Amino acid sequence: MLSQWLKTSKYTVVFTGAGMSTESGLPDFRSSKGLWKKKDPSKLASTEALNNNVQEFIEFYRGRVLGVKEVGPHNGHFILADWERDGLIQSIITQNVDGFHQLAGSIRVAELHGTLQKLHCQSCRKEYNSEEYLNEEYYCECGGILRPSVVLFGEALPEDAFQMAFEEAQKAELFIVLGSSLTVTPANQFPLIAKEHGAKLVIANMEKTSMDIYADLVINNQKIGELLQELDAKLR
Ligand code: APR
Repeated sequence: MLSQWLKTSKYTVVFTGAGMSTESGLPDFRSSKGLWKKKDPSKLASTEALNNNVQEFIEFYRGRVLGVKEVGPHNGHFILADWERDGLIQSIITQNVDGFHQLAGSIRVAELHGTLQKLHCQSCRKEYNSEEYLNEEYYCECGGILRPSVVLFGEALPEDAFQMAFEEAQKAELFIVLGSSLTVTPANQFPLIAKEHGAKLVIANMEKTSMDIYADLVINNQKIGELLQELDAKLR
């Protein structure tokens, strides 16, 4: 059914979460082995942590920057990039900060939560490559602290990514969620915005989500990589 919908839809938007990157070797946040099962995000991934707990903040994010540099996109990311090139999908809205969609060749990507591939100075906002953290460079030439260009809890989402996601969700005829628990606002509003504007909503996630009741199709207990592989074979 989904391969049929993909073929006939004139405007398809894919929305990804951490479940898109676990098969690359990165942990997600809320499943049994998730990052937030071991660490309290508010103590680490927040502006409060950056201001009052900077040593632990830098240690935590240096580890995550190292993590995304050590692994990379898996076959599922490359399939989505091929689908964009073939005109099967028109854009990706991602909550992920690993940059794997772009590394796999996807072009129209809205990174709602920023990226670990870049750093910027908390004082003067000068941008740096996240390699600086790997070289244990933590301060800007202006003296300000360098932090990853991810959205910390307590910060607003990047305006341009939010705007693009809003427009894409409104234009979608088919909106496919891949690997997200859909628990974090405002990111989890985009599937609803798409639905409100007449899109068919598909939620593919290992576990059930609270938004499954709004979906036209729910796919549980299947790995995203395998699902994309199967769909790609049917579309060829
Ligand atoms: N295939 C299918 N589903 C998977 C796979 C997989 N290979 N691996 C994990 N999942 C599912 C998990 O069951 C889980 O429900 O992906 C979902 C990921 O949910 P979360 O861990 O909550 O991640 P996400 O929804 O992306 O979190 C949103 O929260 O902490 C913030 O900024 C962070 O962007 C993140 C946001």
